[in-house]
Amino acid sequence: MKKIAIFAGDGIGPEIVASARLVLDAVNTAAGLHLQCMEGAVGGAAIDRCGDPLPPESLQMALEADAVLLGAVGGPQWDALPPAQRPEQGLLRLRKGLDLYANLRPVQIFPQLLDASPLRPELVRDVDILVVRELTGDIYFGQPRGSETGPDGLRRAFNTMVYDEAEIRRIAHVGFRAAQGRRKRLCSVDKANVLETTRLWREVVTEVAREYPDVTLSHMYVDNAAMQLIRAPAQFDVLLTGNIFGDILSDEASQLTGSIGMLPSASLGEGRAMYEPIHGSAPDIAGQDKANPLATILSVAMMLRYSLGAEAWAERVERAVLRVLDSGYRTVDIASPGTHLLGTRAMGQAVVAALAQIDEGI
Ligand code: NAD
Ligand code: IPM
Ligand code: MN
Repeated sequence: MKKIAIFAGDGIGPEIVASARLVLDAVNTAAGLHLQCMEGAVGGAAIDRCGDPLPPESLQMALEADAVLLGAVGGPQWDALPPAQRPEQGLLRLRKGLDLYANLRPVQIFPQLLDASPLRPELVRDVDILVVRELTGDIYFGQPRGSETGPDGLRRAFNTMVYDEAEIRRIAHVGFRAAQGRRKRLCSVDKANVLETTRLWREVVTEVAREYPDVTLSHMYVDNAAMQLIRAPAQFDVLLTGNIFGDILSDEASQLTGSIGMLPSASLGEGRAMYEPIHGSAPDIAGQDKANPLATILSVAMMLRYSLGAEAWAERVERAVLRVLDSGYRTVDIASPGTHLLGTRAMGQAVVAALAQIDEGI
């Protein structure tokens, strides 16, 4: 029996996770996986309950689980809290506590959604990118950090961007191995013309590349990469980058697919894993049954693939999503004229129905 820890979080988190749970539960039954799902609190929900965005029992639950499914955390009601007490720190501590250093964010184009992208269809049609984002280092975790009032009476705030070579090497290996299973091209994104951290990044990635002679390595400065993602996104295969650049570039890349509500992710460490959509808690649409749950449902597919040894079921979930889009069902973020609007829950139900048809060979 495998254990799944589920943290719905805040804002749209509970809605998208409930919708994805319909799919996970359906697969669990149909495939006889005998999953045991446990629910815990992380983020603002945990702050409201006990004042800590990652209570010890939630971390423990995650450590004991075979996989974690997370919705999203954060919201305006917690924005005034000091940085260390904010909901987002619960997520960051969870990633660090599980040592989930490799965040895989596939940017896959759904042909049915070509019209939903703000870019012209001919620019995005052939896009298939895997963003490999380092997740437990960089300016997110570097010390010292803080804010103070200096002797001159001016307020200052500071963070530290830092990587050591071991951190870079292990994520580089993830990137190169992923490229070997794809189109064998890896573009490493840095700011080596300005920042020492990313100069080291470039050096170490170049060293690791020697172990993967079948993969073509290129380097690109992050500002150019941000531009190239809009100008000619189909040029990329694997995009390897650090924590902060990966955060920003993956939100940008999500628009190629039509919506940030379409991008799933897997955060992997040595033997541990968490699955989460790349988007946030979307406070502007929370509680309205409007959010797109497909990023979370596709994250469940990644969980089936990477943590539950159920590749065939992962593919079925992905095919079920395609089928639902083929049928013209859309949440509002990906809707276009002539499509059928569904809410968050109904979208989950539609994927479950499509899954049942696939299971019956229809
Ligand atoms: P966001 O990703 O929550 O929302 C950005 C925009 O995208 C909003 O207009 C939102 O409505 C839309 N959107 C996001 N997900 C959607 C979905 N599934 N379906 C349809 N539309 C969707 O980013 P933000 O507004 O900058 O941040 C809101 C809060 O979420 C903040 O507190 C932030 O810290 C937090 N956040 C959490 C995570 C996470 O938990 N992994 C990620 C990003 C942001
Ligand atoms: C993400 C989010 C998080 C990040 C925040 C909420 C800490 O933006 O998962 O992309 O920056 O990693
Ligand atoms: Mn982000």
